[in-house]
Amino acid sequence: MFSRPGILHLQLVARLSLLVSILAALFAPGLLAQKIELSVDALKTGAKIDRNIFGQFSEHLGHGVYEGIWVGADSAIPNTRGIRNDVVAALKALKVPNVRWPGGCFADEYHWRKGIGRSDRRSVTLNPNWGGVVEPNTFGTHEFLDFIEQIGSEAYLSVNVGSGTPEEAAEWLEYLTAALPTTLAKERAANGHPAPYKIAYLGIGNESWDCGGNMTPDYYLDQLKIYSRFVRNFHPEQQERQAMRKIAVGPGGNGPRWTEWTETIMKAYQSHTWSWDLSGLSLHNYTVVKWPPAYASVGFGEAEYAQILKSTLEMEGLVSKYSSIMDKYDPQKKVALVVDEWGGWYAPLPGSNPGFLVQQNSLRDAILAALNLNIFARHADRVRMANIAQMINVLQAMIITDQEKMVLTPTYYVFKMYVPFEDATFVPVSFNSGSYAHGDQTLPRLDAIAAKDTSGKLWLALTNVDPNQRAEIELRLAGVNAKSASGETLTAPKVDSVNTFASPHTVAPEPFRAQVEGGKLSLTLAPKSVTVVAIEP
Ligand code: AHR
Repeated sequence: MFSRPGILHLQLVARLSLLVSILAALFAPGLLAQKIELSVDALKTGAKIDRNIFGQFSEHLGHGVYEGIWVGADSAIPNTRGIRNDVVAALKALKVPNVRWPGGCFADEYHWRKGIGRSDRRSVTLNPNWGGVVEPNTFGTHEFLDFIEQIGSEAYLSVNVGSGTPEEAAEWLEYLTAALPTTLAKERAANGHPAPYKIAYLGIGNESWDCGGNMTPDYYLDQLKIYSRFVRNFHPEQQERQAMRKIAVGPGGNGPRWTEWTETIMKAYQSHTWSWDLSGLSLHNYTVVKWPPAYASVGFGEAEYAQILKSTLEMEGLVSKYSSIMDKYDPQKKVALVVDEWGGWYAPLPGSNPGFLVQQNSLRDAILAALNLNIFARHADRVRMANIAQMINVLQAMIITDQEKMVLTPTYYVFKMYVPFEDATFVPVSFNSGSYAHGDQTLPRLDAIAAKDTSGKLWLALTNVDPNQRAEIELRLAGVNAKSASGETLTAPKVDSVNTFASPHTVAPEPFRAQVEGGKLSLTLAPKSVTVVAIEP
């Protein structure tokens, strides 16, 4: 059919196209990048990664509580005593260690008595911080603690220092925790809970330097001493080992004002007497770049991806800075740095109530979450608690609802993938991250942490920040037998890919496996991805 010169021509074309495809493969983005060597010695362990760094925050704000958690017992949305079942099931899978409630700025205007007793007789108030909407108080103390029990978590209550009194806060704690038949304990029993509640964490005020009362550090310190002294937990099982931990308001960013605040509290702590104590100092830091928040949570490109992620890495500097101030006054690290508000804060979604802080949640947020969790894990000796803002429908949420519909966000999946790191022991990882640059932003290309879980299994979390190139990892392991690595990886077509009610699985984890070959474990990470693997012997 073909003449000899025709066959030769075809062979030449075939060879040329093979050569072209080999060259194309060699110069394909993923292969151009050099292999990144990662070394982990499983025998070199560090601090415990406290499960509480995976804490959540739920404020009376927008649809964070009403609709997000609470639909009421008469709702057509399946619920248990008014709390929606789909949300509870999703949160149970996250093994949420603690939930901070009722705020935020809301906490310093919250009066607990308005949220107890028969729901049809509760005061209807306003929520001036967040859209000025009506606050029905139908979700109050008992409903919150029912929710905590349903998801299997612990309560982190923020008491009202701004517009409340030490007496009001002390009575709330007595109402909650007294086992003896005081009038308040009997009232609790009459409201349906004869047994005292356990309250694991107590936040003394919220942002008392701003929405919590614009106090000076010295004025707040005086308040802190009074609340710490008189707001007592009477639960019989919380008198010693399980004692309630008290968390003071700490810094809210970078700069001399926050240094002074931290110095004031920690210096006083150094010489504190029996009459007051402290277990944690909070840090609030959002990834926002511009104030008021102007970056979009959807429909952005690589420039905003790089800017936001570069900005989120500032958490490392803040945590290091405040840890070293704390080290000066508390070298034994008795006081934890509690990052109880963090996450991406973007422009409100068009058409939403700006006071409701509604935003979408993209693959970028998943990467942002992983980078912050890694920072907390690396500082596990001091950072022993953190609360992402906020759990449902507000800011960087785990869950978005609309009436009966619910969707899990990319951030939800990162928290789920990181569950094995709860209470695991940190194991140092050495690597040269390389860099990823876009425009005038340059960031580390790779991030990684490792830890041994409570059964001794070694886990690795690897983030490839680069949205264009795969990362080829060569893992050198010591102190552990390894045949393979298996787990999950999370990526999506675009940096701004999101999950919606119509398309809920655009950003969802996929199984991931890697084998040991020639004594080495090679892992290929997709561009813009988070991967969590267990090392299998
Ligand atoms: O999370 C939203 C708000 O941000 C909180 O109410 C406040 O503490 C912070 O300023």
